[in-house]
Amino acid sequence: MVKVGIIGGTGLEDPQILSNPKSVVVETPYGSPSDALLEGTINGVDCVLLARHGRKHDIMPGNVNYRANLWALYSLGVDVIIASTACGSLQEHVKPGQLVFPDSVFDRTNGRKSTFFDGSHAGAPGVCHIQSYPTYNEQLRQLMVTSAKSLDIDHHANGFGVCIEGPRFSTVAESNVFRSWGASLVNMTMMPECILAKELGIPYATMALVTDYDCWKETTHVSIDLVMETFHENVGKAKRLFIDVVARISDVDWTPEVARMKKEARDSIMIPAD
Ligand code: ADE
Repeated sequence: MVKVGIIGGTGLEDPQILSNPKSVVVETPYGSPSDALLEGTINGVDCVLLARHGRKHDIMPGNVNYRANLWALYSLGVDVIIASTACGSLQEHVKPGQLVFPDSVFDRTNGRKSTFFDGSHAGAPGVCHIQSYPTYNEQLRQLMVTSAKSLDIDHHANGFGVCIEGPRFSTVAESNVFRSWGASLVNMTMMPECILAKELGIPYATMALVTDYDCWKETTHVSIDLVMETFHENVGKAKRLFIDVVARISDVDWTPEVARMKKEARDSIMIPAD
């Protein structure tokens, strides 16, 4: 039976969607994950939940140990990972309160550790040139879209985000440049989680909850109060989506997709000749 990893972003640190949650402390070759993980079930499906920023939200985006988070989920045997992330909107038609299921991301972070294969762990030898296309697992992404449709949640089935380093929000100049690139979203945590999941051969997709119009509009400028206010008004949608999509995920036999992704990950590693 499938085991689902769930990474809760801002506002979903402890969404209380698990039955019989058990706290599990995990150490990894890459250090400690953001917090203890919670193992439990959602409507009978095994799930493991991790708060990306820690359950007290005390880890800023650039300091999240993304490698330890992904490795911890991997070591607990999750087959697929779904995540949530709070985002600003860069386009008028992408409205606060809506969900977006991104199909790609533009990486504007710097200095984040974005590969397991950097020589620091003997269990990950060689150099890994993983494909960044497709960035998100399409089968999983489509299940999230289907959930949103069936729950009648206002959403966009496509679009890409710009992931900035943060922790500051963008300048107006930056925001307008990102808009001119055609990006729908801006946020601080879309990278490198999706790529690390690919290196582990784990199908991964994310739901973006739009909280604000960033700062490109004359009338409104993002602030943490605005982000949290919109998030609290809409967090129910994200929780309902997680619960619904977990049931859909459990109806799928993931064996062939996981085998395909593990092979793709293995084939991306160059081992130095002796
Ligand atoms: N998270 C939520 N809103 C954001 C914004 N406007 N920029 C970056 N990260 C965000």
